[in-house]
Amino acid sequence: MNHPAREQWSSRRGFVLAAVGSAVGLGNMWRFSYLTAEHGGAAFVVLYIGITLLVGVPVLLAELAIGRGSQRSPIRALVHYGGRRWMPLGFLFVAAGFLILSYYSVIAGWTLRYAGIALVSGFDSTIADQFSEIATGWDAFAFHLAFMAGTVAIVGSGVKGGIERTALLLMPILFLIVCGLAVYASTLDGAGRGYDVYLATDFSKLLSFRVLKDAAGQAFFSLSLGMGAMLTFASYLGRDHHLPNDSMLIAGADLAVAFVAGLVVFPMIFALGLSEQVSGSTVGALFITLPQAFAEMGAVGRVVGFLFFAALIVGALTSAVSLLEVVVASTMDGLGWPRRRAAVVAGIAIAALGFPSAWSTEVLGVVDQIANNLFLLGGGLALAVFVGWVMRDPIAQVTIGAEGVRWFSLWRFFLRFAVPAILGFVLFQAVPDTWNAVIDLFS
Ligand code: PFF
Repeated sequence: MNHPAREQWSSRRGFVLAAVGSAVGLGNMWRFSYLTAEHGGAAFVVLYIGITLLVGVPVLLAELAIGRGSQRSPIRALVHYGGRRWMPLGFLFVAAGFLILSYYSVIAGWTLRYAGIALVSGFDSTIADQFSEIATGWDAFAFHLAFMAGTVAIVGSGVKGGIERTALLLMPILFLIVCGLAVYASTLDGAGRGYDVYLATDFSKLLSFRVLKDAAGQAFFSLSLGMGAMLTFASYLGRDHHLPNDSMLIAGADLAVAFVAGLVVFPMIFALGLSEQVSGSTVGALFITLPQAFAEMGAVGRVVGFLFFAALIVGALTSAVSLLEVVVASTMDGLGWPRRRAAVVAGIAIAALGFPSAWSTEVLGVVDQIANNLFLLGGGLALAVFVGWVMRDPIAQVTIGAEGVRWFSLWRFFLRFAVPAILGFVLFQAVPDTWNAVIDLFS
């Protein structure tokens, strides 16, 4: 079949930064910090790193191999290697893109609002009480629309002119801000208490099933796996890329930013004695407690708060772009639409789908659970089986550009056995948990 010339990244740096941009986002700062706080600090981080390396990296490499090999968007890529019976999985990926972006953009809208508050008036002690006003209702919806508009504008401008250019420009700024804030946080009186909690090694907390599920869910969410985002980005790659090196670099950068973000969040919260307010709340750590910390820092808090939320906006934007790109690339490939039209129509549909999440943080939380526990983990399991058992000679595909690498048989063994076993085990618990969360929402 003849395809029109496919867009390509202009450089390896461009691709890697765009992929790191997809990986680094709200997950690294918002989810990572509350999960770590909830599950006992560094012990959880160790488990999370282990799962990222054992399960995340093999699946990431699998996505890169399918994308680069097929040079197609997810639905077509799966059909290309597995036949039409794999088409539904591709549709599931597109549905996941829709679903995740619909609430992700609502949270990103909150960060826009917070950055605006820092800039215009600074935070004051009433900020915690303002949270529900900021997070729900028409205000939340308006900021969600604004964020979606920015995402559509970038994706509509193309792979090179939009996605790559944004990542090249913004990702270095994000790295600088996060590192700068970590250094600043270390100078706060009482920062040590935050490090004590963050770096505590209470491994006894790990012996629970929920912790494993949360670590796996976080690894997939943070690395943007299980819904074809990395696959789609890799479909714009030329043949000469060393995919194993790229996947290690992406995973390493993602872990590094999450870890450094912890070095920002924990000391700030503990230096100001606000730790009680963090526990148990999924949104609490970032959107209620930290702004209170910024309020207590006075004038400095205004600058620090603005920089913090600016970094979050950058992370969210470069991630949202990859979520939308899955939908847009599939629409372009499947319906033959031009990029701009696909981006605008998909953007409007996703913005509308986000309405319930903008209305209620409970709905948002449940949609997040469904997306993570079912779509991403289920998608990751299916992808591992696909590349491990169905795709013809995936090792030949990843070897292109990486001729000296010797561990590909191990990689395939992992995809065939270890990854499905771990993810199957996790899903066994995640499915009823998610079901209960949905029932709770309606009762
Ligand atoms: N990795 C992003 C984050 O950590 O915020 C979220 C995300 C982006 C998930 C893209 C899935 C995806 F396809």
